[in-house]
This record gives sequence, structure tokens and C-alpha cells, in this order.
Amino acid sequence: MDDHGPPTTWQARLGAIPAGAYGREDVLEAEIEHVFKSSWLCVGFIEDLKNHNDFITFQVGPHSIVVQNFKGELKAFRNVCSHRFSRIQTEPRGNRRLQCPYHAWLYDAEGIPRGIPDNETAFGLTEADRASLALKAYALETCGHFVFVRMKDDGPGLRGFLGQVYDELVHSCETCPERVDNLTLDVACNWKTGVENGIEAYHFPSVHKDSFADVLETDVRMNSYGPHCTHEGRLTEKSRHWWDTVAARARLKTSDRHRDYISFLIFPNVVTTFTAGAFFTFQMLVPASATTMRITSTGWLAEGAGPARAGVIASLKAFSAQVRAEDKAISEAAQRGVGEAGIGRAAILGEVDNRIRHFQRTYAARMELANV
Ligand code: FES
Ligand SMILES: [Fe+2]
Repeated sequence: MDDHGPPTTWQARLGAIPAGAYGREDVLEAEIEHVFKSSWLCVGFIEDLKNHNDFITFQVGPHSIVVQNFKGELKAFRNVCSHRFSRIQTEPRGNRRLQCPYHAWLYDAEGIPRGIPDNETAFGLTEADRASLALKAYALETCGHFVFVRMKDDGPGLRGFLGQVYDELVHSCETCPERVDNLTLDVACNWKTGVENGIEAYHFPSVHKDSFADVLETDVRMNSYGPHCTHEGRLTEKSRHWWDTVAARARLKTSDRHRDYISFLIFPNVVTTFTAGAFFTFQMLVPASATTMRITSTGWLAEGAGPARAGVIASLKAFSAQVRAEDKAISEAAQRGVGEAGIGRAAILGEVDNRIRHFQRTYAARMELANV
């Protein structure tokens, strides 16, 4: 929210990111350096990493990260072999040793190549050589259902980075332990176009008139927590009634902390929602290129053994799929326009866009270093 009241001219409402920054590969490169590498990025789910040798991979721009379970300990590395630079794990998730598929170098929990076929005759690598050929390691921490990685060596821990959001995330995850929805969506837009769509409610009546507009009253309030921000709103009477009925019939163990609706932006690229103290969604919006991104969206539901549970899950999944499809279509339309707008001015941000303003200012402050 502006400290000095609403601006008086439209020029004073201009955002901090020019249209041209929504499609240039050189801008994405700078973003990876200055925005993504210094942030704690969610790279996946603890659920996928429960057993020894379970792994996940995560791709941001050209960078691939592997997280691997070594006898219960999770480690994150650059997913690039020290020998001739092959990817080491090539699937999004699975269970196999941290072993390069090319010439079978095998890595240990420190990222040191331990098993090197024909080492004596082919390389003669000593213990010290092997240690200096260790994979690049990244900082890793977990919170709730999620695994976070920081690619830069220095910086605050996850708790310091998330601030108050840390506790909120723990609370949402404890309230909603079961993953009931998974959706992966490739969208032809810049990741910032996607994030900005995900953090404003102004488009609900036009884009989501048959879905989300029915759920939330329009008087949403914003709060910021460092680089992160929330918006909070009231459920419509119709939605309140639906949730009350559902909570009773599915015997949901709901939380009293957020009985209506709250959405978090975890800077830079995660948007969460928490509805009726019972349903938590978590969307990662990850750039694949300057004009494409992948959304990984999951939904998590409160415990409850009532007979209506399966039906509730089916409704929530159908609803999420509809909202994501509506957002995909409009984000792609927005991207086509922003591409034509070229490097001109930034967008006009009204009071209804105050979370976008916060996001853009945070982004611009990080990117100033990059001189873009
Ligand atoms: S490239 Fe990995 S073992 Fe050769
Ligand atoms: Fe939307």
C-alpha cells in the first residue's frame, strides 16, 4: 500500500518493470543471477524423497538441481557430472543411486565421485583429486511439505528468508497433510506475467466469472512481509455455505486461524492459497525460457474421514483445473500483448494491483544490481 495516499496522475501509477523485460532472454539470465539464485526456491516435495536413493530434479532456466536422499539425509547438487558434464539424474523423480548414466561415475553424499570405472588405468585420480572434483553443492532446508534450495553460497537461512511466512507455511501444512491434487501446466508466458496474474484479484469477475468469482468477495486486503506479501479476503456467502456443509460431511479437521481466504506470494515465484481453514494450494511458477514457464500446482486437504471426502476431493480438483485453465489462457493473451508493447513503459497499477506493485518493487530492487 502506498504510504502517501493514492497517486494523482496515471503516470504516478506506473509499475517498476518495463514491458520489454517480459520476454528477453538476457533479462531472464540476469533474473536467474540476481533474483532466483539468491532466493530460497521450492524445488519439490518431501513426500517424493522419503527413502534412501529417492531423488527429484528441478529445472530453472538452464540450471538443473538434483536433490537426493542419502540414508535419510537430503542433499542438493548441481545436476552436472564432473567428468564430461552429463546430467546425472535425468528424470523428474525416481529412486536410483547418484550415478551418471554416461560413464557410470558414482557420487557419495558429499558429491564426491567414489566409484570411477577403471580409475587406476584411465585417470589415476587420488583421494584429493576426487574431493576437488566434488559436485557443486547447494544449501537445502525443508519447511512443511516442501524442499527449498538456495543456489548462492551466502545468504539468510530459510526461516530468515521467509520471515513470518515460515510459520504460516508450517501451519498450512500441518492443517492440510494430504496431497489431493497435482497439476503440471506449461504456459506460453514469462514467469512474471504468471506471478502477476496469480497475485491479483481484479481479474476474478472477468476471467473467473464461473469459478473463483463465486468464492471470494472483492474487498481483499494486502499485507507485506519483506519481499513476500499476502492478500486476504472473505468467502462469499455461497462459498461459506459450501465449505460448512463439506467440512461437516467430510468431518474435516479445519484450522481456525484463517477461516476465510488468504493467499501468499513467496517471493519470487510461489503463490499459495488457504481456503476455509481446510484447503491449501501451492503453485510454483518456474521459467523455462523468457516466454515460457511451467506451473506445478498441488492441493492439500485437511484430515477427515467422513463419507463425503472423495466427492469433495473430486470437486476441488475440477475447480482448480478450471481456474488454472482460465489463468493459462489469459496469461498467454497478456504475454502476446506485452511482447508487442516492446520495451516501452511499465503497466499501470491501480489500488487493486497493490500486490503487483510490491512484487515489482522487490524485483526491481534485486535487479538494479544487474543493470537491466
Ligand atoms: S559424463 Fe558422467 S561419467 Fe562421464
Ligand atoms: Fe486467476
